[in-house]
Amino acid sequence: MGRADGDETSVAGKTCVVTGASPGGIGLEVARALARGGARVVLACRSRSKAAAAARDIIASTGNDNVECRTLDLASLASVREFADGFNGPEELVDILVNNAGAMFKEYGVAEQGRERTWQVNTLGPTYLARLMMPALARAAAANGNAPGSARYVYVTSKLELKGVVAGELRSGASDLRMFNAIADVTKFDTFKRYATAKQAGTALTFELARRVKSAPKFAGIAVHCVSPGMVNTNLGRFAGAAFVLAAPLRWALTKTRAQGAEPVLFACRSNAPEVANETGGYFGTSSSFKSGPVAGLEASETARDPGVGARLWAIAEAQHGACGEWDRS
Ligand SMILES: NC(=O)c1ccc[n+]([C@@H]2O[C@H](COP(=O)([O-])OP(=O)(O)OC[C@H]3O[C@@H](n4cnc5c(N)ncnc54)[C@H](OP(=O)(O)O)[C@@H]3O)[C@@H](O)[C@H]2O)c1
Repeated sequence: MGRADGDETSVAGKTCVVTGASPGGIGLEVARALARGGARVVLACRSRSKAAAAARDIIASTGNDNVECRTLDLASLASVREFADGFNGPEELVDILVNNAGAMFKEYGVAEQGRERTWQVNTLGPTYLARLMMPALARAAAANGNAPGSARYVYVTSKLELKGVVAGELRSGASDLRMFNAIADVTKFDTFKRYATAKQAGTALTFELARRVKSAPKFAGIAVHCVSPGMVNTNLGRFAGAAFVLAAPLRWALTKTRAQGAEPVLFACRSNAPEVANETGGYFGTSSSFKSGPVAGLEASETARDPGVGARLWAIAEAQHGACGEWDRS
C-alpha cells in the first residue's frame, strides 16, 4: 500500500467536511491538503474564531478560497443535528466526511444531558453526525453513479483503542442509557482509560456503520473506514496542563508532525487502492506510531472487530441519540 501523496487532486471539485479543523491539530492539515487538491472544504469547529483563523491559513497557503466555516460542538447533540441540517437539502452533497475531532479530559465532567464528556465528544457525537450525514454522502455517491468509494466516511481513532474496556462494560450489563456514564467514583476518573474506551467504542461503531452501509442499497458507493494518525505533536494532551507545556521539546523530537499525522487520514479519503475504494470497514495507519511511513491496514482490537459488540453499541448509541429521522426515513 502506498502513501497518500500521489492522489492529491483526486478530490478536486468534491465537498469535504472535516471536524475539529482548528489550528494546531491534525484536522487543519487534513483540510489544508484537501483544499490544495481543489476541494470545497467545510471546517466544522466549535469555535468560530479558531475556524476563521484556520480558514485564513488554508486560503493563504493553498490559494483555494472555497473554504467555509460552520459551527459544530460534539458535546451537544442539538449542535450536531443543527450542523447536519445544513446539509439536508436535495442538492447538498458531501463526498468526504472526516470525523476527526476528539478530546481527552483530566477530570470527570458531563456534557449535554449529563453524559460523561469523553464518551460524548469522541463516540456519541461523531456517531450521531455520521448517521445524520449519510443521506448527503449517499447523494454524492449517487451523483457519481454509486461507484465504489465515490463517497467516504472516515473516523479518526487511536491505537489506544486496544486498551479500551468496552467488553467489560458491556458484560457489566450497563446496556441502557447509563452506558459509559455510570462511573461509580468520579474521583477515580482515569483519563486514558476513558479515552481508550471511547475510541474503542467509536471504532466498533464505525465498523458497525460499515456493515449497515454495505447491506443497504441506498448507501451504495460509500466507503466507511477508521484511521489511526499515530502519535502526533498536537494540542490533544493539553488537559495535562504544565506537564504538557514542559514536554513540548520531547513531543517535537519524538512524535509525528501534524502533516505526517494527516497522511493516513488523507489516504483513507483519497486512495484508489482496492482495500480503500472497493472495500468498506477498513482500518489504516502507519506501523510505527512515531514515524511517518507507508500507510497500511492495521488490526483493531478484538472487541472493536466483534459484530456482536458493534450491534449492542449501535443500539445503545441509537437510544442515546433519540430519533434520527434521515437515517431511518431514507
Ligand atoms: N495527537 C495524537 O497523538 C493522536 C493520536 C491518536 C489519535 N488522535 C486523534 O486525532 C484526532 C485529532 O486530534 P489532534 O491530535 O489533532 O488534537 P487537537 O489538536 O486537540 O485537535 C482536536 C480537535 O477536536 C476539536 N474538538 C474538541 N472538542 C470538541 C467538541 N466538543 N466539538 C467539536 N470539536 C471539538 C478541537 O477543537 P478546539 O480547538 O476548539 O478544542 C480540535 O479542533 C482526535 O480524534 C484524536 O483523538 C490523536
